[in-house]
Amino acid sequence: MSEHPFFFTWQAQRGAAPLVLERAEGVWLHTPEGRVLDLGSLTYQSNLGHGNPRVVEAVRRQAAELCESTPSAGYPAKGELARALLDRAPPGFSKVFFCLGGSDANENALKIARLVTGRYKALARYRSYHGATLGAAALSGDWRRAPIEPGPPGMIHVLDLDESLGDARTQIPRVLALEENVGAVFLEPVVGANGVLIPPPGYFAEVRAACDAHGALLVCDEVLTGFGRTGRFFALEHQGVTPDLITCGKAITAGYGVLGAVLVHERVARVFQDQVLVAGLTHYAHPLGVAAAREALAVYADEGLPERAAGLEGTLRAGLEALMEAHGAATGERTLGLLAALDLDLDDQGRARFAAALREEGVHAHLKGPRQLRRPGAALVLSPPLTISEAELAEGFARIDRALGAVARA
Ligand SMILES: Cc1ncc(COP(=O)(O)O)c(C=O)c1O
Repeated sequence: MSEHPFFFTWQAQRGAAPLVLERAEGVWLHTPEGRVLDLGSLTYQSNLGHGNPRVVEAVRRQAAELCESTPSAGYPAKGELARALLDRAPPGFSKVFFCLGGSDANENALKIARLVTGRYKALARYRSYHGATLGAAALSGDWRRAPIEPGPPGMIHVLDLDESLGDARTQIPRVLALEENVGAVFLEPVVGANGVLIPPPGYFAEVRAACDAHGALLVCDEVLTGFGRTGRFFALEHQGVTPDLITCGKAITAGYGVLGAVLVHERVARVFQDQVLVAGLTHYAHPLGVAAAREALAVYADEGLPERAAGLEGTLRAGLEALMEAHGAATGERTLGLLAALDLDLDDQGRARFAAALREEGVHAHLKGPRQLRRPGAALVLSPPLTISEAELAEGFARIDRALGAVARA
């Protein structure tokens, strides 16, 4: 048996070792082996960096004032957060359903779509991740779906944004027509964990029109891309699309609390004026998560962090291009705001060596292989805190450069 009393997620337990965190400040994680530069915002949630005193104090204050709640309760921060979230959504969004994180935000979006449309089918891409719970995992396209099948029936996948689709923009209109009775289409505005795939201009307009033509709700999964990551508050703003539902998690609290949310357009929300909303959770709008989110949103606005991410996009891209010039193994990049992927021509052994070299250099980022990319090769996904400085980014590139050099020499 593994020597640790807790499970490690998404892996066999033998030989698993934790990243031991002692404390964290700014973009730095402090571990017994030394400082680690966080170029991944932990699991994409730490958009404010670590130890932000405003958010820590807001959580402390909330804990002292009102630390527990019940789903039907009202308290000031709950309404204020809902209003702040709706203010950031496209026009027409009128209600928030609170939940515990990204997976159950998508789980509840699936339920809302079923309740509203009376249809059980949902469509997503093969290159996607929507969460670990049974419905959200069945909806996901990535490697984490197959081991738990059969999931709920009616989950349909399309190849959109996969390299194998060639020039075709989207299969969704055709698939919606052939399938009939699809209740919802779930799309990450930019595919995150499956390799940072940025849709071409006009892609979402085509999907929106197809959803309208076939009576399906459009759900934008902003769990990874929301809250400034791509240089806009929500990544859907790049495409100017108005979905029916927006699912949120991760950086909604900047990682300082546990919370997810489904933002609901008025045309959907109004159905539940008289129809029962068959959904709820004991920790619905838990005060500590709500307090963290409310203050995190205030800091995103006060410090102009989505704009900051947009401003640093060029620096991030230039750093990746320099790595491509210096290292034959670095073959391509995709960058939007402070979310980027560097494609790497590395096999499994090369990827393992690169992972070890990054550890040696003290870099935390997201190294993907064929399981996530669904193609041979590897990609390094970078998603630093939006507060990172130019100097810290430069330090990160120097470390990645040395790690790639070490792999080439091995
Ligand atoms: C796009 C997307 N949706 C949903 C989820 C699930 O979120 P959580 O792990 O917080 O439940 C993730 C997590 O990585 C994600 O990237």
